[in-house]
Amino acid sequence: MSSEVKESITIHKGLDSIRVNESSICLIDGERSRLYYRGYSIADLTDNASYEEVAYLLIIGQLPTQLQLDELKNTLFSEYTLSPITMTLLKSYPSTSHPMDVLRTTISSLALEDGGLTQDKSVNLQRAIRILAKAPVIIAAFERIRQGKEPLTPKKELGHAANFLYMIHGEIPSNYDSRIMDIALSLHAEHEMNASTFSGIVTASTLSDMYSIITAGIATLRGSLHGGANEEALKMIMEIGTPENAVTFVEERLKQKKRIMGFGHRIYKTYDPRYTILKAIAEKLGGVKGKASLYDTAVRVEREALGRLSDSKIFPNVDFYSGLVFHMLGLRTDLFTPIFASSRIAGWAAHVLEYLEDNRLIRPKAVYTGKVDLQYTPIEQRT
Ligand SMILES: CC(C)(COP(=O)(O)OP(=O)(O)OC[C@H]1O[C@@H](n2cnc3c(N)ncnc32)[C@H](O)[C@@H]1OP(=O)(O)O)[C@@H](O)C(=O)NCCC(=O)NCCS
Repeated sequence: MSSEVKESITIHKGLDSIRVNESSICLIDGERSRLYYRGYSIADLTDNASYEEVAYLLIIGQLPTQLQLDELKNTLFSEYTLSPITMTLLKSYPSTSHPMDVLRTTISSLALEDGGLTQDKSVNLQRAIRILAKAPVIIAAFERIRQGKEPLTPKKELGHAANFLYMIHGEIPSNYDSRIMDIALSLHAEHEMNASTFSGIVTASTLSDMYSIITAGIATLRGSLHGGANEEALKMIMEIGTPENAVTFVEERLKQKKRIMGFGHRIYKTYDPRYTILKAIAEKLGGVKGKASLYDTAVRVEREALGRLSDSKIFPNVDFYSGLVFHMLGLRTDLFTPIFASSRIAGWAAHVLEYLEDNRLIRPKAVYTGKVDLQYTPIEQRT
């Protein structure tokens, strides 16, 4: 390739600002701290709707009627059951496995009993709801198995969020804890064309199947620059330990050119609206659960980091307080990203189903910088 041609090409490293499709699912206004699912503000939804309603809204495109919501809840309930193959698999994993690896592997394995490529929209939708239902059951079952306990089956009278807490802890959660879990799930359910959603769309664009699509999303969410940041943020706050240690920690970390986890975002150049909701929850929950000092440490870290980063438009994101909230609900740190994934299945499915309405294989190009026409050397002559 001539250098002339090369010079006229713009490389979009990280695909910043590249639009890959039109979508009516989610709007992020990163300058004004706003987030909408299908036109509804995230604050309105988390004030009023359950996760099941939010999932329905995202996947189907409108808020459900009572009848539609009841139907979805019934379908979810019937899909909560794990097959003997899935249970055998879960019991065979090393107890040291990261639950995110467990979730990725097990969701992929669901295709073994329901496999096959199809472009039937209703099958794709059915599979999406099946995966959405089974994901939290898989996470909770593994959590109990690795502690040497028997997995629990969901209870019909509990909602999706409450059932998850019940299956983890073995006790019916309070309405307060259930509602917080519900809100946390809704806050994580969707976030426009992020890395994991794009990954799902790339997989879908080859006309792959829903299990592969969601597995790709989970795999992409796994990393610490995406879903894994909530785990890292809580570890960081716990390592700091007390509010007094925050200044030195933040100073040292930034001096070493390391990142403050739970800060910064490709789109938000101000506060992430999900952060605002989670911070308020963390404050109240900290008091209720006797963890106010952890909250105070987080607030101090936030203040110190903001003082140094806000001029560069680096603000706290959803992950800064979400880990704290999950921790206060008694959930172990390595469950945070799988919980995020289980809720995001709604968003991934919504985007994929929308994209498949007008599919185009995603096939970008690279600028080749290697050599050409090299002479093959037999192996014995290579030095
Ligand atoms: C999310 C993230 C990858 C988005 O960043 P981005 O828009 O791609 O920005 P870049 O990675 O190009 O960083 C731009 C600059 O901001 C700095 N920066 C970004 N996030 C930072 C953070 N959390 N702490 C300290 N500095 C940060 C970078 O060091 C870089 O500085 P430089 O230009 O001096 O090298 C980044 O903010 C990050 O790594 N955050 C921590 C992980 C996290 O919380 N992820 C969850 C996202 S919801």
